[in-house]
Amino acid sequence: MISQNILEKLNRQVNLEAVSSHLYLQMSAWLLSQELDSTATFFRRHAEEEKFHMMKLFDYINETGALALIGDVPVAAPSWASHMELLEAAYAHELKITASINDVVDAALQEKDYSTFAFLQWYVAEQHEEEHLFGTLLHKARIIHTVEGRALFRFDEEVRKSVLGHEHHQQQPMFLQMGPSPCHHEKHEDPHHATSHLRH
Ligand SMILES: [Fe+2]
Repeated sequence: MISQNILEKLNRQVNLEAVSSHLYLQMSAWLLSQELDSTATFFRRHAEEEKFHMMKLFDYINETGALALIGDVPVAAPSWASHMELLEAAYAHELKITASINDVVDAALQEKDYSTFAFLQWYVAEQHEEEHLFGTLLHKARIIHTVEGRALFRFDEEVRKSVLGHEHHQQQPMFLQMGPSPCHHEKHEDPHHATSHLRH
């Protein structure tokens, strides 16, 4: 059983995850219109992942005997002037999601709702990963956006090919190795793999 306060906050999160899914799907369409096919694919896959986040909350709420509410899912028409602007918007959106998750976690702790608190730890770890993922994309886009940055990026690629060769694996941060895996559902694709498609 959950309190009315926790229910409202969880339902706000259900709605936010649905908005995230639609937003990233809209972003993928815009990216396709700009011929940025790989980035579009990444956002399309991420839209599916956000849907999974929504359903996980949806199921949890219903399991407590309360009523999950999706609410309105408004997504504005695309207005990004560039892919950089889009990536900045996506990163800012993830920071907003993290703040919202932290707010529910805080409320669960204050109300001694340990079940909800434990359930939300998955989202805490997930948001750490999301911020890292979108932050890395944005940072790389900023690097490649300048002539000097492109030279540095090219140099780093050269090191990967000529020095590291096939032995190179991207190191996963310790936190992600230890934390709850966001890849519980079978169709889920590791977002880092999705990102690596953009890198190489
Ligand atoms: Fe999410």
